[in-house]
Amino acid sequence: MTTASAEETASRVNPDVDAIRHHYEVGNDFYRLLLGPTMMYSGGYWEPGEGLREALDRAQERKLDAFADLAGASGAKRVLDIGCGWGTLLDRLTTVHGVGRGVGLTLSRTQQEFVHGLGNERIEARVESWEEHEAEEPYDAAFSLNSLEHFVHSSLPPRERTKRYRAFFGRVHKALRPGAGFVLHTMTAEALPMNRALLDDLKFLQRSEFEGCHIPHLHEISLGMEGLFDVVEIRNERESFAKACRAWLELLAQRRDEAVALEGEDVVARFERYLDIFAYTLEDRFFNNFRITVERRS
Ligand SMILES: C[S@@+](CC[C@H](N)C(=O)[O-])C[C@H]1O[C@@H](n2cnc3c(N)ncnc32)[C@H](O)[C@@H]1O
Repeated sequence: MTTASAEETASRVNPDVDAIRHHYEVGNDFYRLLLGPTMMYSGGYWEPGEGLREALDRAQERKLDAFADLAGASGAKRVLDIGCGWGTLLDRLTTVHGVGRGVGLTLSRTQQEFVHGLGNERIEARVESWEEHEAEEPYDAAFSLNSLEHFVHSSLPPRERTKRYRAFFGRVHKALRPGAGFVLHTMTAEALPMNRALLDDLKFLQRSEFEGCHIPHLHEISLGMEGLFDVVEIRNERESFAKACRAWLELLAQRRDEAVALEGEDVVARFERYLDIFAYTLEDRFFNNFRITVERRS
C-alpha cells in the first residue's frame, strides 16, 4: 500500500468542491423541472391517499412547517441552514414562521444565485463550507437537510471520519446559543448485505454522481455529537424520502424532452439512474433517512 502525500490527504479531508458542483450546478431550470416549484431536494410528508407528484409541494411545505416546530424556530431572531439548497426552508421560515434572519450555506454558485433571485431580504445564501462559517452572533436554531452525506469524504478511514463528524458538530455547537434546537435530516447506512447489482449501483454513485459522498453510520453521528447535544428525538423517515425520489422521477418522465433539451441526454440519464438507486435502496431498507432533533448543551 502506498502512503498518501500531505496534499492528497488534505484534498480528501476538505470538501471536494468540484464534485459537489458537478451535481448541484446543473442548471436551475433543470432543477425547477425536476423538483417542482418548492425546490426542495429532500423527503416530504405525504398524507395517506395523496398522489406523489400531485401533492409534492404540499408534502414539502408540511415537512418544513414540522421542522420549524421541532427546532423551536418560530419567531426566532436568527437561524442557520447548513446545505441550504435553493433557500426554500429559509424563505418559509422568514415568510410564514416569523423568523427575523436566515443564513444558508451551500457550495453551489447557481443555488446562491437562485436564493438571491427570490428577492427575500431576510435571507442570505453564502457560498461557504460549514467549516469556514463564523457566526456573527449565536443562532437560535439550525437545520441541515440531506447535506451531511457530503460533509465527510468516503475515502477517509473510520477514525478520521469520526474526527470530521466531531468537527462538524463542534462547529454547529459553537454557532448556536445554549438550548437551541438543531434538526438534522440525513441518510444513514448500516452494514450493507452486498450483492453485485447493489455494488454496481454504489460504484455508479461514487464514480459518476456523488464522488466522495459518505452515507454515515448512526454510531458515527452519535460519536460526533456526544457531550455537545442532547437527543430529543430520532425518527426513521426512509419512506418519505423514497416517495420524494419517486415523485421527482415522475416529474422528470413527464417533461423528459424539455429536460434533455436543457441539459442533454447524459445528464438526464444520470439523474434517472441515481434517483432510482436512492428510491430502491430506501424502499428495500439498505439505507435509512433519519430525522434527528437535538438541543445544544451549554
Ligand atoms: C441534497 S442538497 C439539500 C438541499 C436542501 N437542504 C434541501 O433539502 O432541499 C445538499 C446541499 O448541501 C450543500 N453542501 C455540500 N457540501 C457542503 C459543505 N461542505 N458546506 C456547505 N454546504 C454543502 C450543497 O451545496 C447542497 O446545497
